[in-house]
Amino acid sequence: MILGKVLTCTRIELYLNFNKLLTRNEREEIKLLIKKRATHYPLQYLLGETEFYGNKFFVNEGVLIPRPETEILVDAIILYIKKTNKSKWKILDIGTGTGIIPISLSKYFAENKNELSLIATDFSEEALENSKKNIEFHNIQNIKLVQSNLFENIAEKFDIIISNPPYIQNDEMKNLSKEVKKFEPKSALLGGKNGLDFYNKILKNSGNYFNKNGKIFFEIGGNQKDKIIDLAKKLNFTIIDTIKDYNNFYRVLVLER
Ligand SMILES: C[S@@+](CC[C@H](N)C(=O)[O-])C[C@H]1O[C@@H](n2cnc3c(N)ncnc32)[C@H](O)[C@@H]1O
Repeated sequence: MILGKVLTCTRIELYLNFNKLLTRNEREEIKLLIKKRATHYPLQYLLGETEFYGNKFFVNEGVLIPRPETEILVDAIILYIKKTNKSKWKILDIGTGTGIIPISLSKYFAENKNELSLIATDFSEEALENSKKNIEFHNIQNIKLVQSNLFENIAEKFDIIISNPPYIQNDEMKNLSKEVKKFEPKSALLGGKNGLDFYNKILKNSGNYFNKNGKIFFEIGGNQKDKIIDLAKKLNFTIIDTIKDYNNFYRVLVLER
């Protein structure tokens, strides 16, 4: 992939040009990138891009690298929208990062009769700049970006509120790979002492932001299902669905007030 980046070609083109000799400059550039990767600098930051839900997304150091598990969250929302007899949807994504969730939804429903109006928020300026770049790259018209600390700058009501919030327990940080703990933004990862700070705040403050039958779709940490369900029940939410990822961890929680 590093070769592909330096030579600006696809992986298949590398094989098709197997005997091509590298120039001195190309060799130097490749060496530099390999040295940087050897410090555990994530490949996605090195390449400046990654793939999510079959699409290309730009990613830089200030934002979380999209994870494949989040595709389970996107799948769950798509399935829910498809099976619900409703044409217009107001959707809020809290902590949008690279913008992968709203952009994937927008692209999926672009040629469908469902009309989506999406608001994507983040408190991080770097994340908003990164998601703006992705929105422009994919030529998306129905996503509005808002800088906001959770619901602070939001005044509308929604049919779906989505969040993949920071959910790593503070004391678990030391167990993460060097790629993550050395290079990814802590503000996108850490969810407080028990990892639940953001779920707690979002659930407590979401009351005024739902349309009738509004749902909340959370991505959750592998061992957090029961704790978040307890929290949700205490705050009078109904548990609509729990969905596992391919590693058999509960990854998505759907709630209704
Ligand atoms: C785990 S990342 C998820 C990013 C992206 N949605 C994804 O699924 O890859 C959490 C995001 O929440 C943002 N965030 C953290 N605290 C926030 C806050 N108080 N208000 C809004 N966004 C916040 C971070 O900047 C980060 O982009």
